[in-house]
Amino acid sequence: MTEAVREAKREGRVVGLVPTMGALHEGHMKLIEMARDECGFVVVSVFVNPTQFGPNEDYGKYPRTLDRDAKMCEKVGVDIVFAPSAEDMYPDGFNAWVEIDGLTRVLEGEFRPTHFRGVTTVCAKLFNISRADCAYFGRKDYQQLKVIEKMVHDLNMPVCIVPVDIVRENDGLALSSRNRYLSPDERKAALVLSKSLADARKSYSAGQRDPSKIRALIEKRINSEPLAAIDYVAVVDAETLLPVDSLDNPGVVLLAVKIGTTRLIDNILLK
Ligand code: PAJ
Repeated sequence: MTEAVREAKREGRVVGLVPTMGALHEGHMKLIEMARDECGFVVVSVFVNPTQFGPNEDYGKYPRTLDRDAKMCEKVGVDIVFAPSAEDMYPDGFNAWVEIDGLTRVLEGEFRPTHFRGVTTVCAKLFNISRADCAYFGRKDYQQLKVIEKMVHDLNMPVCIVPVDIVRENDGLALSSRNRYLSPDERKAALVLSKSLADARKSYSAGQRDPSKIRALIEKRINSEPLAAIDYVAVVDAETLLPVDSLDNPGVVLLAVKIGTTRLIDNILLK
């Protein structure tokens, strides 16, 4: 990895990194295509990062489809698929953590207290290993994107973070590697996330600026679905992710909902 990047840099190529946990789908491919359009050398990392999973989460059963992922990458002209082992990334005695305060304590951070520390640590390592000039992150994981932007800003990391819009199925469900856990009934029920976000957008477009009213609308829709259980519904400032009294600046609706035992997240920008 180091050798290949050194060579690419010597040739003056701009290095683009797309960090993933594999089980690639069209959402990942959109990030990869953007990287390929903008950069002369594209690295896709495929690494199911153990440090970002909580003790009762799905690290063991998370889908691992490296051969298929590598073929998909090759087809669209990715230069390198970097797929280290957990021991490569976290050898015995590993003892360094990158921790971002504030932003990581709310929302996902409340439900998954050690999650973002794992994400920021592995991304810092991937940025260093790949010497990326640009790194591509989906708006699907909106809070993750904001945390990474904050890390790069506060620690002066020499990488440009490029956000990419959410890719959805035709019926509105945001693509996710975890969608494959859903039974057919749960797959139908999962539509309640994107539908409730569409309700929010409609209400906002009609002039609603009271976050509690928008939130109530969403909760009503989700609670009407028997297979769905809300972790949180937040209507917050799009930059700080803090509550606001009125949506005068850009806002974001962030959802985490369990459909059966599968936890899904989705969001929509209000601006
Ligand atoms: P993973 O869930 O594999 O996602 C990799 C990247 O793809 C993330 O930036 C995510 O936001 C983006 N992505 C996933 N689904 C998307 C969709 N439907 N539309 C647009 N982008 C989408 O996020 C992670 O992995 C990990 O936390 C990682 C950053 C790799 C660190 O381990």
